Amino acid sequence: MTNFTAKKAQTRPERIISGAAWDDDARLDASVRPKTLDEYIGQKRVKENIAIAIEAARTRGEALDHVLLYGPPGLGKTTLAQIIANELSVPIKTSAGPLLERKGDLTAILTSLDKKEVFFLDEIHRLQAAVEEVLYPAMEDFRVDLVIGQGPGARIHPFHLNQFTLVGATTRAGLITAPLRSRFGIVHRLDFYEPEDLLVILHRSAKILNIPMEEGGAEEIARRCRGTPRIANRLLRRARDFAEVRADGLITREVAQESLRMLGVDEHGLDEVDRNLMLALLDKYAGGPVGLGTLAAALSEEEDAIEEMYEPYLMQIGMLDRTPRGRVATARAYQYFGRELPKRQPRLF
Ligand code: ADE
Repeated sequence: MTNFTAKKAQTRPERIISGAAWDDDARLDASVRPKTLDEYIGQKRVKENIAIAIEAARTRGEALDHVLLYGPPGLGKTTLAQIIANELSVPIKTSAGPLLERKGDLTAILTSLDKKEVFFLDEIHRLQAAVEEVLYPAMEDFRVDLVIGQGPGARIHPFHLNQFTLVGATTRAGLITAPLRSRFGIVHRLDFYEPEDLLVILHRSAKILNIPMEEGGAEEIARRCRGTPRIANRLLRRARDFAEVRADGLITREVAQESLRMLGVDEHGLDEVDRNLMLALLDKYAGGPVGLGTLAAALSEEEDAIEEMYEPYLMQIGMLDRTPRGRVATARAYQYFGRELPKRQPRLF
């Protein structure tokens, strides 16, 4: 695989429960990452649909239609892109929206693609408008329009590309422009994983990494990793450290519980940032509604980080709702944090 530019480093590595990739993860994930669709656990509907599209493309001898994958970080978008290339027996090139600053950056990659090659473009919602426009004819007609010269004498020279497959990934489907979205033939949302799937993933990773783990230990991690394999694998490694240093190396339920407690991860996989967010919402803003900007300022966090990383899981477990007037705490959140439910908020619950 060619990596055009190094992925940006995660700036807040202290947050164990974030789905965003850390440099450390990238290295360690590579060893446990599934290489084929058969090895890929969970996301049944996505997997089945992609398997059919791959088989059809292979049979016709054509490049696979362009694929857009969206959903919260850490659910396997990059892994799926690599599996798609692997299953098609084609090479893959990788880049990310913010790394392509000029049209020429993207044109250089597009013109270098081999026939049927996969081009994985992460954070595709962060492409600049001018750069994104280069993608339109490339995706539709496998063509880039090269501009030769400058000023009144400038000419446009169409350059024909090899047929390729763009696999775009984003955590923010809502930010994808309509013309870009309409050019993807295959669009799938990745969901948080079920605990049963996470158990299988954890046992698989433990086996590959030679980590002794009991079922109880796996269950604790599976329950508290926010439905996210990347976090599950990260917690597994921390539990291994704990087991080696404070116990006899075996990850039992008690070892997992104690290591998660030391990491500040609670029963539902919430960490300190989640708890601070929910407590600000409940106590400072009387359960909401409160605007994203206000909440972000109160927590000294980026709005993007709140929307992309913290909120999706809090919504999934039913603690927080997004309404047109702002964020609100649900009845479940009042209960979980031991706060008395306000008497009159009929519209919100
Ligand atoms: N590791 C990370 N994600 C995985 C998945 N979906 N299946 C198997 N192993 C994984």
